Amino acid sequence: MSQIAITRTQNPKTPPSDDTLAFGNVFSDHMFLMNYEDGKGWHDPRIVPYGPFSLDPACCVLHYGQGIFDGLKAFRGQDGHIRLFRPGDHARRLNRSAHYLCIPELDPAMVEESIRALVEIDQKWVPHKPGTSLYIRPTVIATETFLGVHPSHTYLYYVIVGPVGAYYKEGMNPVRILASDQHVRAVKGGLGAAKTMANYAASLYGAEEAQKGGYTQVLWLDALEHKYLDEVGTMNIMVKIGDEVITPPLGGAILAGVTRDSVLTLLRGWGMQVSERQVSIDEVLAAAKAGRLEMWGTGTAAVISPVGELGYKGERYVINDGKTGVLTQKLYDTIVGIQYGTEPDPHGWARLLGN
Ligand code: COI
Repeated sequence: MSQIAITRTQNPKTPPSDDTLAFGNVFSDHMFLMNYEDGKGWHDPRIVPYGPFSLDPACCVLHYGQGIFDGLKAFRGQDGHIRLFRPGDHARRLNRSAHYLCIPELDPAMVEESIRALVEIDQKWVPHKPGTSLYIRPTVIATETFLGVHPSHTYLYYVIVGPVGAYYKEGMNPVRILASDQHVRAVKGGLGAAKTMANYAASLYGAEEAQKGGYTQVLWLDALEHKYLDEVGTMNIMVKIGDEVITPPLGGAILAGVTRDSVLTLLRGWGMQVSERQVSIDEVLAAAKAGRLEMWGTGTAAVISPVGELGYKGERYVINDGKTGVLTQKLYDTIVGIQYGTEPDPHGWARLLGN
């Protein structure tokens, strides 16, 4: 790719203490930017000091939501190396999201290069404490100034990064989720498989309702029958019923999580019975009542998040005595071990910075 032009900040900030880190409220010293224009393609890759940029009020993304993003992390191992977790897979997923939103394809190698270059320059922002990481947010927005509804002819690709701790205030402790029979996130044939702003906007109202009821997140059921599990607001969902691990299939309504794929690969490697199939809320509740259920979410931000309680139609169902299940803990330890370089990485998921 063309050379990335670098303008370093004259006012570097001091990263906060690792002990204070939450999720998504602190950003580093620099950001990556690159523009697209029909006829010219993607051009002008550059790293500049982090800060606001200006957009015309009539800019397309602000009105019709033509935008996409992805999320991945960099980890500082005890060996001092910084590792990016599956950056190539995140770059390819960004492109798949671009496809759904009629956004011109980006070269995945260039996306990975933009991420590496930015993390390299801002590496002092990768926190040290176990459980912390540098969250990386590649984003594409439509920038053309117009109010007619059609795909934009110009775009901005940008990457921002910031140190984070646990996504949920519960940390690795079990969360409570509410299966909604009222609200839906996405429907097959729509945008559910894309990482686009619209899906998160669609989730806000239901999530607020759930939080009023004391739940951390919503478990979205399928939009047609309100019967089958789809996903949780910020993570894919998995259940273990007896010996079978089940997760909803990638049918177009849910996001193809990179952590989801990592977990399925690990489970299959451990010889476990894994099914990507529809699983109904009734099947899950029956297993909860029979004490045969373990449940967890998977996601870049959430990592592996145990579910300790499920709400549905005014009833509360405690899962696994409200405790983290044995398999959930093993998955967490293995994934986190690969990310920090303390566990073997036979699939080559953790990519060293500087290599
Ligand atoms: C992620 O896990 O990276 C996400 O994008 C979830 C969220 C914070 C929107």
